[in-house]
Amino acid sequence: MIPPSKHLLYEHSVQSPRWQVEYLPQVHRLLTGRNALRFREDFCGSGKIACEWVKKSSRHFAQGLDLDDEVLAYANEVNRAALDPKAQTRMEFLKKNVLTARNGDFDWIGAFNFSFYIFHERAQLLKYARSAYRALASSGTFYLEMAGGFGFTEPFQDEKKVKVPGVGAVQQIWEQHGFDPISAVGDYSIHFQLPDGQWLNDAFTYHWRIWALREVREILVEAGFDETVVLWEKPNRKGEGSGEFEIREDAEQMASWVAYIVGVKKPKSRRPQRKRP
Ligand SMILES: C[S@@+](CC[C@H](N)C(=O)[O-])C[C@H]1O[C@@H](n2cnc3c(N)ncnc32)[C@H](O)[C@@H]1O
Repeated sequence: MIPPSKHLLYEHSVQSPRWQVEYLPQVHRLLTGRNALRFREDFCGSGKIACEWVKKSSRHFAQGLDLDDEVLAYANEVNRAALDPKAQTRMEFLKKNVLTARNGDFDWIGAFNFSFYIFHERAQLLKYARSAYRALASSGTFYLEMAGGFGFTEPFQDEKKVKVPGVGAVQQIWEQHGFDPISAVGDYSIHFQLPDGQWLNDAFTYHWRIWALREVREILVEAGFDETVVLWEKPNRKGEGSGEFEIREDAEQMASWVAYIVGVKKPKSRRPQRKRP
């Protein structure tokens, strides 16, 4: 059997794009008082979230940025191609580095599933935050999805079964390898086992710096953001993530947590015109 695309398996086992396009624009409205229409998905991979965004109305536009030709081909040929022809005109995927993509007039920009952990140096993250700031409209929000906690940096393996349309029940394995407390860098991977027993070992591998919430907030402020807000995932009764988030300024320590930092860009008030003598 020819194995299905690893991007299809990833989308069904890791992503929930409807949540992001429903919930985060409500946060945008709460923080800016405006409706969001123009969205940039950074590190977009197969662009599932961006494609979900343009389905919302004929006024919704999305741009997805990634550096990898192979995943961008999948984004265009599978996910963009599945949109109706008009929605396709409102969805563009670009091969661009998020560090240098400064142009735009976006209402909101998102980097999901810890993608920015690929940056190991403070200077790189600051450069990224500055670029995102410039690419936002005068009033905009920037979402960085983060994970952490001691359970996120110790050797660990988690397995789950997911139903993938056209493929069947697929086993997804999330593996946490070694973590270096000095550099704060760790290795992670995703494996899949197909219904016929075939393995896709190390289908995705990550070499991530595990950033702390506080240092990322400080970097966003240094980059120019007027305010930062933390959306903290509420634990359920078992102490695990519930999928519901709330704005918090402090929280209880948890083995593993997921949170979003939101950088808020506010309109700059115009300087009063000097009267001519
Ligand atoms: C973790 S994956 C994408 C995950 C996806 N955003 C999600 O929500 O599940 C990271 C992606 O970032 C891309 N990438 C890495 N560095 C990049 C950069 N500097 N600019 C743009 N894309 C980058 C990789 O090619 C890869 O497709």
